[in-house]
Amino acid sequence: MVKYAEGFDRSAEDFVPEARDLDSLRQAAQNCRGCPLYKDATRTVFGEGPEKARFMLVGEQPGDQEDLQGHPFVGPAGQLLDRALIEAGIERGDVYITNAVKHFKFEQRGKRRVHVTPKVREIKACRPWLEHEIAALKPKAVAALGATAGWSLLGAGFTLKEGREKWHEGPKGSKVVATYHPSAILRAIDHQQRDLLYSLLVQDLKMLKTAR
Ligand code: URA
Ligand code: SF4
Repeated sequence: MVKYAEGFDRSAEDFVPEARDLDSLRQAAQNCRGCPLYKDATRTVFGEGPEKARFMLVGEQPGDQEDLQGHPFVGPAGQLLDRALIEAGIERGDVYITNAVKHFKFEQRGKRRVHVTPKVREIKACRPWLEHEIAALKPKAVAALGATAGWSLLGAGFTLKEGREKWHEGPKGSKVVATYHPSAILRAIDHQQRDLLYSLLVQDLKMLKTAR
C-alpha cells in the first residue's frame, strides 16, 4: 500500500514505469498526474545530465523559462549556477541537474507567471521521481540547492542554517550537502550579500568533490 501525502489520493509512484533507467523514467514522467501541479504547467521538466555524472544537483522546481523550454536550470538561476560550477572546478559533464518538484507552480499576475513555493504535500508527491533518479544515477554526491530540495532529500523541517557544511544521508544511501539556491542569491538585498552568498555556494559545491 502506497502512503500518500495528506489530501492526495496518488503520487508520482503511481506513474513510475517498470524500467527504471533514466530515459524510461523521464519519458514516463511526462504523463505524471501524481499531484495537481501538472494542470497549469506546460510540461514536466525532468532531470538531465550524463548517465555517468558523478554529481547530482537538486533545485526546487522549474521556473518560467524551464517550463517553456523543458529543461532544468536554463533561466537566470541556471546561468548563475553554471558560473558557480565553473568556479568550483566542476565540469558540466560531471553533473546531473534535477528538481525536487517537476512541474512549475505559479500564480498568474497579468501577463506574468509568478513563482509559488510548492507545498510539502506536493514535494512528497513528487519525491518518487527524485528517489528513482538517485537510484538510477547512483551519484557520488548530491547537492540540495535550497530548502525545498533539503526538505525533499532530508526531511521536512530541514534548515539550511543548521544543515550547511556537513554530509547528510539522503535517499538510497546517497551523500548529501546542502547549500543556497541560486535564486536566493539573485534575490539578495545588496551586492555585498549577493557576493557573500555566491562565494558560499561555490565553497559548498567544492565539497562535492571531496566525496569518496
Ligand atoms: N530554479 C529551480 O529550482 N530549478 C530550475 O530548474 C530553475 C530555477
Ligand atoms: Fe507528478 Fe511531480 Fe508533476 Fe506533481 S509535480 S504532477 S508529482 S511530476
